Amino acid sequence: MDSMWRNLWCLFVFVSLIPFNFGSLSANFYESSCPKLLSTVRREVVKAVAKEYRMGASLLRLHFHDCFVNGCDASVLLDDTSNFTGEKTAIPNKDSLRGFEVIDGIKTLVEASCPSVVSCADILSIAARDSVVALGGPSWVVALGRRDATTASFDRANNDLPSPFLDLPDLVSAFSNKGFDTKELVALSGSHTIGQARCSMFRVRAHNETTIDSEFAASLRSNCPFSGDDDKLSSLDVRTPSSFDTAYFKNLIQNKGLLHSDQALFSNGSADSHVTSYSSNPSAFFTDFAAAMVKMSNLSPLTGTDGEIRSDCRKINA
Ligand code: HEM
Ligand SMILES: *[C@@H]1O[C@H](CO)[C@@H](O)[C@H](O)[C@H]1NC(C)=O
Ligand SMILES: *[C@@H]1O[C@H](CO)[C@@H](O)[C@H](O)[C@H]1NC(C)=O
Ligand SMILES: *[C@@H]1O[C@H](CO)[C@@H](O)[C@H](O)[C@H]1NC(C)=O
Repeated sequence: MDSMWRNLWCLFVFVSLIPFNFGSLSANFYESSCPKLLSTVRREVVKAVAKEYRMGASLLRLHFHDCFVNGCDASVLLDDTSNFTGEKTAIPNKDSLRGFEVIDGIKTLVEASCPSVVSCADILSIAARDSVVALGGPSWVVALGRRDATTASFDRANNDLPSPFLDLPDLVSAFSNKGFDTKELVALSGSHTIGQARCSMFRVRAHNETTIDSEFAASLRSNCPFSGDDDKLSSLDVRTPSSFDTAYFKNLIQNKGLLHSDQALFSNGSADSHVTSYSSNPSAFFTDFAAAMVKMSNLSPLTGTDGEIRSDCRKINA
């Protein structure tokens, strides 16, 4: 009898460890040190998205640009100073990343109740998940315990983040460099079901490409002239820009992807079948997107005594 209970107990412990352990991160990392963390982040993200739905997209993108550059270590949040060049002025980020004030606001609230306990990298990871949920997308468990970098890399931000002018083979290799296969590339690109891009990012496509729906191209050109107006915005998903749904994939099938890199995923290549299947299978998209986000948010975190818990997300601790 004793051994039966012991075996059951071992089984319980074993099973309970499976779903919520990701390397050395764990879902309950702040359970006793900052019990209100998750509800605080959720409340603030819901508020920010209600005020401006695009903020959900901006927070999701911040997390992506953090994780693909030296791992999810909040390096993207560091401001430049006279003797420090961070990632904010790298080409993919400059005049483009947004949402820093929302993260600062959450950090201030979290510091007030649990000082020097919660990393900026973890706040960003939770905020990205809550943003997707706030716009109608899937949820996932965010493993916690990341710590914040004391460095950043301008060069890696330029090299490791994919350009919107890439064709499929280069997109595949940019993602495979981070451990993602073609299907995961397609699932993660489904993020472009929300948010916006600047004219300079889709000008060539709107004016000069042939694999684009002609009415769609004409409507883009009306808001993005051949020269000038570089910062005019268009939605990445022309149908439902404020809902996290499968419309992005339906657009691609109709040659209505906004960026060259979006349409490259449906261009008679190895990604087409994934686009087609996600376009008509929301639950497969949600499941695969959530799994790929878990994987992305676990890219080489700093843990243990590495890095630090920043008290201001924009600055390395003095
Ligand atoms: C596949 C390669 C990708 C490329 C080439 C790419 C490129 C871009 C570009 C050029 C923009 C517009 C930026 C601007 O005009 O200021 C953008 C926006 C965005 N990207 Fe991506 N992206 C990619 C993958 C991803 C992934 C994996 C995610 C998230 C997991 C993501 C999330 C977003 C979001 C949400 C926006 C809208 C942001 C906003 O409105 O503030 N992208 N992306
Ligand atoms: C930059 O300069 C400040 C003030 O002189 C100093 O405290 C800090 O350590 C320096 N930071 C770096 C990254 O060298
Ligand atoms: C479109 O292509 C033409 C001919 O190749 C080129 O002269 C022009 O600069 C291109 N326009 C844009 C916006 O890329
Ligand atoms: C894909 O193939 C179709 C049918 O052959 C063709 O009309 C279309 O232009 C091709 N698209 C690309 C991007 O090559």
